[in-house]
Amino acid sequence: MPRDEGRAMKDEVKAFRKPQQPKSKPNKKLAAKVRTVPNVVKEPEIPNVPLALQQRLLDLFEQTLYTGPESLACIQEVKSHLYKRDFAAAFGQEDYLRAYALRWSAGRALGYLDLLSGEVGDLLLEGQRDSTGKEDGERRGEVHSKVLCLGAGAGAEIAAFAGWMQGSASQEAVTSLCLDVVDIAAWDGVVEALTKGVTSPPDLGTHASESAKESSRALVSADSLKVNFTRSDLLGWDEMTVKENLESVSLVTIMFTLNELYSTSLPKTQQLLSHLTAASEPGTMLLVVDSPGSYSTVSINGAEKKYPMLWLLDYSLLGSRKSNTPAKWEKVISEDSKWFRLPEGLVYPVELENMRYQVHLYRRLDERP
Ligand SMILES: C[S@@+](CC[C@H](N)C(=O)[O-])C[C@H]1O[C@@H](n2cnc3c(N)ncnc32)[C@H](O)[C@@H]1O
Repeated sequence: MPRDEGRAMKDEVKAFRKPQQPKSKPNKKLAAKVRTVPNVVKEPEIPNVPLALQQRLLDLFEQTLYTGPESLACIQEVKSHLYKRDFAAAFGQEDYLRAYALRWSAGRALGYLDLLSGEVGDLLLEGQRDSTGKEDGERRGEVHSKVLCLGAGAGAEIAAFAGWMQGSASQEAVTSLCLDVVDIAAWDGVVEALTKGVTSPPDLGTHASESAKESSRALVSADSLKVNFTRSDLLGWDEMTVKENLESVSLVTIMFTLNELYSTSLPKTQQLLSHLTAASEPGTMLLVVDSPGSYSTVSINGAEKKYPMLWLLDYSLLGSRKSNTPAKWEKVISEDSKWFRLPEGLVYPVELENMRYQVHLYRRLDERP
């Protein structure tokens, strides 16, 4: 699996480095002229997601996957396999998969929840509104969506969507979601455990009061969130398979997976994107999240050339003027580098890190005249 894990780990290390001091000496003349403005009150940042909900997602990962010191030992073993790029070993056994999800998916879930709770989520809801053809008032509490999550077996997307449903429950909301999760690795156990975790009341421990136990509820009800897992190699999907999997889907997500697919086979990944384009209905959204500055090396006539992941993606989805291919999608959000920083005050038994990512949201255009 992840060729990108090495890069992600480097990003992690960078994230925790202290800010660099400027190398040059301060310009005294300039410094004398610059006056600090007294009494400027910095506006507190309004977080997209309440801390309690973020903690709730971390509790979910802890209660579902953490087994104590053995989990920490497994994380170290997974890390060392990833460092050696021995992905077969890193993801070759159930306890390693659980350890991976505990260590990496939990933080990503918070990052994705933050993303969904901002502009990206608003646009997704807006897309739903357009596709149902209903007016705003009419559709409150009536959105039923199907999401195809590619390369999502490790569970971050499941937790994030459940958190999004819970977080938006008081406003207009997605009331029912069906997540079709596809991944090449044997994530069945993790998907099942996390799905059970989001649809069951949290374990409050033996010391919780009766009233706390009574009021504890599942993040989402089992009726409102359905998760199906399919173990499959996406690069082997032909046009028919893509078509079947895209039926009634309003959103496709490819999170921290696209560059890995490109690294495995650039032509097969381009083919997958072209099948997705052919099979998707106008209005379908495609959400891509990955490490910033991801590159793929392509060999043309024996010469190696590096292309940024985004360039390859845009080439497939937006067409090119040079080859006279019209755009099939429009890009509605695109950010080359963004940080999700963990807020202070979260409690978790495993080290987590801030997440740096690029994010792109596309909407399928209607080609009918
Ligand atoms: C870096 S992980 C990202 C997991 C998750 N989407 C997230 O953001 O936390 C990449 C995932 O893509 C899956 N993957 C890689 N190649 C694949 C392929 N050819 N077909 C299906 N899944 C694949 C891996 O098994 C892994 O679960």
